[in-house]
Amino acid sequence: MSVLHSALTFSCLVFLNNFCETFSFEAVVVEYAANSNRFLSPDERVMENTKNYIEILESVTANKSIDLIVFPESTLMYLNSYDSTAVVIPPLNEVVLCNASAQTYPKFLEDFSCAAIRHNTTVVINLTEKTNNCSSEITCEDIYYNTDVVFGSDGSIISRYRKYNLFGEYGKSKPALPNISVFQINNMTFGIFTCFDILFATPAFNLTKQMGIKNIIFPTDWLSELPYMTALQVQQMWSQELNVVLLAAGASNPATGAGGSGIFLGKYGPSEYGLLATKGTKVISQSVPSGIESNDVNNILTNNEDIDVVAASLDSFSLRTDPSIKEHTFSVLDTSLDFISKTICHEGDGETLCCNFNISLGKNTEIVTSDKNTYTYLLATYTGVRTYCGFYNGGVDSCAVVACLNDSVESCGERFTNYSSIAWPITFNSINISGSFIETEHKIQFPTSLLSSIRPLPIDQYSWENEVVGLNVVRTIRLRKAQDRLLTFGIFGRDFSRDYDPHPRQGQTGSNYATSRCYAALVLILCFLLNKLLS
Ligand SMILES: *[C@@H]1O[C@H](CO)[C@@H](O)[C@H](O)[C@H]1NC(C)=O
Ligand SMILES: *[C@@H]1O[C@H](CO)[C@@H](O)[C@H](O)[C@H]1NC(C)=O
Ligand SMILES: *[C@@H]1O[C@H](CO)[C@@H](O)[C@H](O)[C@H]1NC(C)=O
Ligand SMILES: *[C@@H]1O[C@H](CO)[C@@H](O)[C@H](O)[C@H]1NC(C)=O
Ligand SMILES: *[C@@H]1O[C@H](CO)[C@@H](O)[C@H](O)[C@H]1NC(C)=O
Ligand SMILES: *[C@@H]1O[C@H](CO)[C@@H](O)[C@H](O)[C@H]1NC(C)=O
Ligand SMILES: *[C@@H]1O[C@H](CO)[C@@H](O)[C@H](O)[C@H]1NC(C)=O
Ligand SMILES: *[C@@H]1O[C@H](CO)[C@@H](O)[C@H](O)[C@H]1NC(C)=O
Ligand SMILES: *[C@@H]1O[C@H](CO)[C@@H](O)[C@H](O)[C@H]1NC(C)=O
Ligand SMILES: *[C@@H]1O[C@H](CO)[C@@H](O)[C@H](O)[C@H]1NC(C)=O
Ligand SMILES: *[C@@H]1O[C@H](CO)[C@@H](O)[C@H](O)[C@H]1NC(C)=O
Ligand SMILES: *[C@@H]1O[C@H](CO)[C@@H](O)[C@H](O)[C@H]1NC(C)=O
Repeated sequence: MSVLHSALTFSCLVFLNNFCETFSFEAVVVEYAANSNRFLSPDERVMENTKNYIEILESVTANKSIDLIVFPESTLMYLNSYDSTAVVIPPLNEVVLCNASAQTYPKFLEDFSCAAIRHNTTVVINLTEKTNNCSSEITCEDIYYNTDVVFGSDGSIISRYRKYNLFGEYGKSKPALPNISVFQINNMTFGIFTCFDILFATPAFNLTKQMGIKNIIFPTDWLSELPYMTALQVQQMWSQELNVVLLAAGASNPATGAGGSGIFLGKYGPSEYGLLATKGTKVISQSVPSGIESNDVNNILTNNEDIDVVAASLDSFSLRTDPSIKEHTFSVLDTSLDFISKTICHEGDGETLCCNFNISLGKNTEIVTSDKNTYTYLLATYTGVRTYCGFYNGGVDSCAVVACLNDSVESCGERFTNYSSIAWPITFNSINISGSFIETEHKIQFPTSLLSSIRPLPIDQYSWENEVVGLNVVRTIRLRKAQDRLLTFGIFGRDFSRDYDPHPRQGQTGSNYATSRCYAALVLILCFLLNKLLS
């Protein structure tokens, strides 16, 4: 291996410089807050956001050339402005919109096309796409998709991805077939999917497991949720388990819990990430090795940020709570012991999941005064179906140590409101958790971890194992370095065979479109209120 490695380095140094360049690409992901000026019209807002996007592109290309820039989901247009700002997308690869004098397509698409040419780069944006659905010559109706559009460096649109797993989004259509979207930059292949798609098999596994694509682009507007589903936690676990590069660009809006962007290099962990505590813009720019299979991955994040400073800055970052948490089977961690060994089983929807927990505890020197709060830890297991805000129901399997406000399971997945008031007297010297799962295409498990700073643990601080035993696979996660700022540590799995849509829709027609929009707004408000009530 090392002989091969030095041979490659040698040929790079001695022969063509260009040859070396094919081993990496320059990628930029942007966390961005949409312009929310109510006094602007929908079209003016689109133009304003377009201008900001292009300014960001200009500033990153001022010092270096980049191959790819990814902007988040839903930050270009109004969330629900289907009718006025929705756009028809020109045919792929054929039309260069830059300086097109015909007014067939809106100005902002032209601007992106010109920017891609001017900076010789690929630009990914998310927008609302409009098309016609004509059942005959006279009966046509407008239909809308949540679409990612990729501008190639020649200024044409080289790929288009229509989001398949919609998060509510009534008024938008689910494509009849999943749109498996793939494109090339400098002979490297990229796949793309959006937000909620990351929790499903289609199209994510078609791209990764079936087609072997190693670079995934992920525009997102992720609303973080404790204890398993905060943004960076999910991005890291997915990239690590699938061992593919994930280029995640998140919309920023701390008041609703939106945020979290990063460049994750599969099993090597993140190269850089961020989660903005206040609404704003963060640009993440990294050189990404094009074959993370090879051994030359060296730009791994060396995270020396102060966990407590970051955590305190996120006190008012809104976090939802997993609604299924109160159904978990649990055991309260007895902190008077040094060593705990327990098996906890949960039975749900005809399945049983048993998880084995071995924990070694230490007490640190922190003195807990009466004005301080301390988390209570529960060892919790769950197998069953949870709802995603009433929009969709999904099968999950989980085993984890989770932080709770007290020893009631209903208080798990909540934080104390004032970070400075928290004391951390318990040190986890070691945690080993294992669970046995049927080995099948419809199940997958991920390593899940979360620090008080709402970041996952550094990837070298835990190990993640996979052992096939008969028809089952035993997954084990082990904490390898003592830690005292834990919120979550364990295994999070999905079981796609138990997924279902609680409100299946009958296509999306023009006539039900207005009512479905109201319904969407109502569900969002209810979901929001429910979260507030429970917290
Ligand atoms: C680009 O370089 C200039 C001058 O060296 C520096 O001031 C600026 O911060 C750099 N910009 C970026 C985005 O790195
Ligand atoms: C994708 O962005 C468009 C416009 O920016 C928006 O209409 C659409 O709703 C976005 N997707 C989601 C899930 O918000
Ligand atoms: C578009 O027009 C601008 C301004 O006239 C010009 O600088 C640019 O080269 C043109 N780009 C293309 C691709 O035609
Ligand atoms: C654009 O970038 C590609 C690859 O990075 C490079 O091969 C090409 O020469 C560049 N084109 C221009 C006009 O700079
Ligand atoms: C997905 O969209 C691309 C265009 O981006 C098209 O070529 C392809 O046929 C579509 N695939 C499906 C399954 O709809
Ligand atoms: C692009 O990749 C294909 C398939 O991997 C290969 O055959 C071809 O030579 C490559 N082209 C360049 C310019 O590197
Ligand atoms: C995607 O993968 C699923 C299985 O995970 C398969 O049923 C489906 O046909 C695939 N779709 C495409 C378009 O390849
Ligand atoms: C966890 O597993 C590691 C490696 O097998 C072992 O060294 C450690 O003692 C175990 N910890 C506990 C608490 O059992
Ligand atoms: C535990 O915390 C929850 C949520 O804050 C609260 O409603 C409940 O009363 C507490 N229970 C106990 C026993 O303190
Ligand atoms: C938060 O807790 C700290 C330490 O206990 C205290 O000094 C501070 O006043 C509290 N802040 C708020 C807003 O309650
Ligand atoms: C926990 O310890 C027991 C007893 O030593 C052992 O059988 C089991 O495999 C351990 N579990 C894990 C997850 O390491
Ligand atoms: C298009 O119209 C046909 C016939 O009315 C309908 O069955 C189908 O669901 C529509 N497609 C979409 C994507 O709305």
